Amino acid sequence: MTRDPRPEAVPVLHLEDERFRVTEWRFAPGAQTGWHRHGHDYVIVPLTDGQLALDLPGGAQTSAALTHGVPYSRRTGVEHNVVNAGAAPLAFLEVEVVDDARTAARVAVLGRLMACFNARDLDGLMGCMAQDCAFHASDGARHQGREAVRAAYAALFDAFPEAAWTEGAHMVAGETGLSSWRFLGTGRDGAGVDRRGCDIFRFDGDLITLKDSYRKPGS
Ligand code: NI
Repeated sequence: MTRDPRPEAVPVLHLEDERFRVTEWRFAPGAQTGWHRHGHDYVIVPLTDGQLALDLPGGAQTSAALTHGVPYSRRTGVEHNVVNAGAAPLAFLEVEVVDDARTAARVAVLGRLMACFNARDLDGLMGCMAQDCAFHASDGARHQGREAVRAAYAALFDAFPEAAWTEGAHMVAGETGLSSWRFLGTGRDGAGVDRRGCDIFRFDGDLITLKDSYRKPGS
């Protein structure tokens, strides 16, 4: 490999918490970031005017003008090498939303929970629940603690020898999750049940601390 003569841009980390990371990038004339792939959505806030040259995957190049104070946003997955193509130093703030990975993990847990209901997999269900968890059933019963929650899930399976949770849709905003679904089951008495409903969830890390269920009256 030949040594690249370009100087390196200098990152200065200004802020990092559970939700954001703010990094100032300072570029001498000709300086580059080096190749990188963005793992988060981000906003760039130029601190100076400037001219960027961007090396893109596959050998393409493009350029972008920076205007002091005029921000722009990009989505996760952008891959490039960023070069100061101007004659003067330039700088910008990069504001990354770093909790999007957590949000994606939580959405995945909601999908897994529904899959475990359909598989009648009690261990799998409890693997989605936090150590300190609760299940507030749609009939108003409140089951607090892992043993009580597990027993309530088991009772649900027992009450419905045939059951399918279908049409699942999941979203997460901050610490709150929402799943909507259509439940199709056959009870021990052979009666069919067809109900639409939703769950409101609370999380601790990637695991569920509360599953709060709501069910529409029968159709
Ligand atoms: Ni970048």
